[in-house]
Amino acid sequence: MKIIKALDYNDMSIKAANIISEQIKIKANSVLGLATGSSPLQIYKHLIDWYKKGELDFSQITSFNLDEYYGLSKENRQSYHYYMYDNLFNHININNQNVHIPDGDNKNAEQECLNYEKAILDVGGIDLQLLGCGHNGHIGFNEPSDIFYPSTHLVKLADSTIQANKRFFESEDEVPKYSYTMGIKTIMHAKKIIMIVSGESKKEIVKRAFFEPITPQVPASVLQLHRNFTLIVDKAAFSLCENI
Ligand code: F6R
Repeated sequence: MKIIKALDYNDMSIKAANIISEQIKIKANSVLGLATGSSPLQIYKHLIDWYKKGELDFSQITSFNLDEYYGLSKENRQSYHYYMYDNLFNHININNQNVHIPDGDNKNAEQECLNYEKAILDVGGIDLQLLGCGHNGHIGFNEPSDIFYPSTHLVKLADSTIQANKRFFESEDEVPKYSYTMGIKTIMHAKKIIMIVSGESKKEIVKRAFFEPITPQVPASVLQLHRNFTLIVDKAAFSLCENI
């Protein structure tokens, strides 16, 4: 595990954006695993900016998102589909046919999950996976559990996740209770993984995930075992780990 210490959210974002940009420059047809949430927003702004300046070309890029709320259509403003187009895809030259996000509208979970896994395998796997970290240590929507669930699956969201994500919805009742998510094996098979974590509110989970034993109760802790994993963490989120 490699740790890159950043000053703050902006510094963390530019450092992560540079790694993604390098990946795209080194391999024009890279397969990127992408995340939603607050953490990657600034990264996506940098990527759009560099695309507009002619420094980045997404025409051969393939993307797979980590997760999508079950029951939300692509048009729903709270769906991760909407988020990705709004915050990134509408502003770059990625080919829509190469964009993959679980279909929250597909009620046939078995079929949706098998298709998603197959689509990842068909392109030879993910080259670079971007991850955020939930306050409870979830990655994608792999919530704390007794096991590391391997492949893409339908998951019941933890109450703490519903609480954390209600800020994006009109009311808590509107937050979907289930989500499709890549599994732990799906994520761990990525050739490279970067995780971005920022802010005081994540300091406890950074310590538990990366300085304590690996456990499915803290799903992010499994990343300690990945052979090419980089944690990009700002001062506030790393504050409990400085002296370890
Ligand atoms: C989103 C995702 C989640 C988030 C996590 C952190 O696609 O997979 O695991 O990365 O919930 O969210 P933020 O960045 O909003 O703190």
